[in-house]
Amino acid sequence: MNKKLKQLFLRGSNFLGVEFPIMGGAMTWISESNLVSAISNAGGFGVIAAGSMNKDQLEKEITATKSKTRKPFGVNLILLHPEVEDLIEACIDKKVELVVFAGGFPKQRHIQKLKKKNIKTMCFATTVSIAQKMINYGVDALILEGNEAGGHIGPVSINVLVQEILPKIIEVPVFVAGGIGRGEIFLKYLELGAAGCQIGTRLVCSDESLAHKNFKEIFIKSEARNCQISVRLDKRFPVIPVRAIENKASEKFIQEQKRVINLLDKSNISLKEAQLKIEHFWAGSLKKAVIDGDIDNGSLMAGQSVSLVKKIQSVNEIISEIVKQAEKQISHEQRVSG
Ligand SMILES: Cc1cc2nc3c(=O)[nH]c(=O)nc-3n(C[C@H](O)[C@H](O)[C@H](O)COP(=O)(O)O)c2cc1C
Repeated sequence: MNKKLKQLFLRGSNFLGVEFPIMGGAMTWISESNLVSAISNAGGFGVIAAGSMNKDQLEKEITATKSKTRKPFGVNLILLHPEVEDLIEACIDKKVELVVFAGGFPKQRHIQKLKKKNIKTMCFATTVSIAQKMINYGVDALILEGNEAGGHIGPVSINVLVQEILPKIIEVPVFVAGGIGRGEIFLKYLELGAAGCQIGTRLVCSDESLAHKNFKEIFIKSEARNCQISVRLDKRFPVIPVRAIENKASEKFIQEQKRVINLLDKSNISLKEAQLKIEHFWAGSLKKAVIDGDIDNGSLMAGQSVSLVKKIQSVNEIISEIVKQAEKQISHEQRVSG
């Protein structure tokens, strides 16, 4: 590997215990043992998505992943999960390397409980003060995720997050995510001080991903502009921002909001009932698309980097391609500067 790139990889690679500090972002219904082990076997760091699992299922998935790779991998826990405490126990019992907390910010006791068992923890940071608070709680690394990403997103782009937060955090490694599809941009984030990156969208169409072929096909056909943030028509509704490829379901969601607003304004239903109707609209919809292949009625969570997904490739090819692009960029810059 290029000497400069090796140097830039050092902190993140040492932290994760891998060759390349490229994390496979957990994707509910997609990041299971097959994909996760393939990422780790390719020199990256796979992460199981526990969002749809109970303790028993997570334990089985960890065991299955361990049977497919001897390399380190992690588990992503959604803090809003009703059984999150049990899932933490599963990670301890099964001695996973690292837990990524998502869907909120972990409490100090969550971090400390895992740390006492020598399990590293990671979480997202959306501001400098949150990053500092998480570091004080003992978190081992942070992720900055721009709203170019697929799935549930924050309001700020990675371009701004790296300017605002990255220069201020030196205590722990910081990984960047959102819109990363090629090695050239990954290199630039490393040069700005990132320890590594996390990618999701780019891995959906891998051979090893068990996502339905319809789901993969729509990724290959889509462009960045097709991946839009869920529309919220009324501030009274709890619409969580999600970036997904627009389809019939996203159009229906707007119509459903209009219908519910109408009922609410005419006092035909209570605010609580209206909020529940909106909240339940997307329930089970990611599974519908990813597993059943219903790309009209399911949720097509995808990031803007979908426009860089052009064909089905092996995970190994995807990861090596990103590394080679970074190396090529270094050589190009060295040639240009003489
Ligand atoms: C289909 C899909 C499902 C996702 N599910 C989760 C999840 O369960 N937990 C999580 O923390 N992030 C989830 N994400 C976000 C990814 O882990 C990752 O951070 C993101 O995809 C990175 O941005 P990118 O899509 O631009 O590569 C999901 C993303 C996608 C595309």
